Amino acid sequence: MNKKTLWIGAAALAAASLAAAQTTPAASAAPVAASPATPTPKTAGDGIAEYRAMLADGNPADLFEAKGEGLWTTRRGPKAATLEKCDLGKGPGVVKGAFVELPRWFADTQKVQDLESRLVTCMQTLQGFDAAEIAKTRFGQGEQVNVTALATWVAAESRGLRFNLPQGHPEEQRSYEIGKRVFFFRGGTHDFSCASCHGEEGKRIRLQDLPILTRNPGDGVGFAAWPAYRVSNGEMWSMQLRLNDCFRQQRFPFPTFGSEITVALGTYMGVNARGAQSVAPAIKR
Ligand code: HEC
Repeated sequence: MNKKTLWIGAAALAAASLAAAQTTPAASAAPVAASPATPTPKTAGDGIAEYRAMLADGNPADLFEAKGEGLWTTRRGPKAATLEKCDLGKGPGVVKGAFVELPRWFADTQKVQDLESRLVTCMQTLQGFDAAEIAKTRFGQGEQVNVTALATWVAAESRGLRFNLPQGHPEEQRSYEIGKRVFFFRGGTHDFSCASCHGEEGKRIRLQDLPILTRNPGDGVGFAAWPAYRVSNGEMWSMQLRLNDCFRQQRFPFPTFGSEITVALGTYMGVNARGAQSVAPAIKR
């Protein structure tokens, strides 16, 4: 058995060095073939876009998507039930199209909820999990891992659809207004608001272009890209975690998972993104 492993290892190594030998000349020839007569300078954004395009071929988000799909139909929790009757806004069990209409108003909870907070509600009501306990759990641990996987799959089921958040209910309109105020609310040690980094053309931090989120930033950008797999730390990030990290960048205290403020920011960005095509789950630097 050991011998076999060794042999496979050696074969893989040989194949890898062969592949390397084959690609090296091609790679060194590529810039010559690709450079036009009068080269237009490549922006950092172009470089990152190329990098992402190369990575998108094997987006590890696929693994989380498959896990989420499995979790949906697995009997789990104190009630040993599946999530198949979960109502994500389009009726019990309807998953396709739900993502591009969230956050929205839910009569049973009397709340505007985003995808993740709604999933946790279903985990509580259908499966008997403790929603407050899940909200307190750190990202990347315990049931939070499953919430992220479920969100990844639900989002993937709406891939290619256009955002169309409902704004008919007064609470949905209120959520938008709260989100807008929070987005422009300045404070903290650096007097930052979300708009300081996401409200003007041409802003960039390190190699990262910052999309303008006060309007539709375009297909698959901003709200329309998350959950996303982040190559930089090898993790799958939901929108709740994305926002959590932006609160950190803003030098604000961390918001509570699924809090009214985070959902309101989602409503604000989601409504602004109306008409944008979802590419979630995307892959990010
Ligand atoms: C100090 C600057 C800064 C502030 C303030 C900030 N962000 Fe960000 N934001 C970033 C950076 C940098 C990224 C890209 C991070 C990455 O890809 O690693 C980002 C990414 C995002 C994205 C994903 C964009 C995309 O296309 O993938 C969203 C959505 C977002 N921020 C929302 C917010 C919200 C809402 C707030 C306010 C609560 C906020 N940000 C405050 C710097 C900031």
